[in-house]
Amino acid sequence: MAAKLISGTDIAKTIREELKDRVRELSASGTTPGLATVLVGEDPASRLYVGMKGKAAAEVGIHSRQVTLDADTPEAELLALIDELNADPAIHGILVQLPLPDQIDDRKVLVAIDPAKDVDGFHPINVGALFSGDHTALAPCTPKGVLEMLFRTGNEPEGKRCVIVGRSNIVGRPMASLLIRHHGTVTVAHSRTRDLAGVCREADILVAAVGRPGTITADMVKPGAVVIDVGTTRVEAPDRPRGFRVVGDVDFDAVSEVASWITPVPGGVGPMTIAMLLTNTVEAAARSSEQGAAQGAERAGA
Ligand code: GUN
Repeated sequence: MAAKLISGTDIAKTIREELKDRVRELSASGTTPGLATVLVGEDPASRLYVGMKGKAAAEVGIHSRQVTLDADTPEAELLALIDELNADPAIHGILVQLPLPDQIDDRKVLVAIDPAKDVDGFHPINVGALFSGDHTALAPCTPKGVLEMLFRTGNEPEGKRCVIVGRSNIVGRPMASLLIRHHGTVTVAHSRTRDLAGVCREADILVAAVGRPGTITADMVKPGAVVIDVGTTRVEAPDRPRGFRVVGDVDFDAVSEVASWITPVPGGVGPMTIAMLLTNTVEAAARSSEQGAAQGAERAGA
């Protein structure tokens, strides 16, 4: 294999160690970061992700509250829970796992979350802030994790051709904003892109976020490109203990012969998403603590 492996597992571990120190400092000054995760329904993949997020939070010292609601929970009940979490001073980050059941309108839920606690970066205020170049906005965790992987392996996007395949709100679109912010030249390709292979071959940095195994083959990759695989598709594997394995969008073995760096699946972007959720939660708590201190000083001066 020619390409070097970008281990999200290792980078995320380093980040979690760094966060432990920040959490300790914040806790010592009276603000223990708190994260609430909300799961509606029983989807096994969502249940697993939410469990992993809560566990990772607790491991770095973040106070974690996990709420699970029945699949038939009315929208009003979920909105009432969000109001409660918005008002709870022990909670600095709120994550509602998507997708939500049909009776609940995702958009209503996302706008109900206090933008200051929106650690997913999905509230329209944060989406708009990110898109308009506001560096202080809480950015969505998966693309933020991809960026962190690029920086921590010396693959800064500045001046480079970046091609993202996929235009979702969770990955493709915010990924484009973040790469533009860091001076990449960005193309967002998607299912209707003509000559997808030709577009991908222009990329110095290729981010695949489609959710379809085998989308990126070796002939679509420029020699020496950095290839980031965001795909996570469960495929049946009766020989595995859980009966499935998770595969990305990239034909890993063949592309490894062409790329200079590549992320594996699993062990690539996945652990980074969780590390960035913790980072955003700590960031939100730090801001809340600073705001509290500033308000205290104002009151003292008044
Ligand atoms: N479902 C798939 N990815 C995500 C994510 O990053 N955040 C939330 N809340 N739900 C998701």
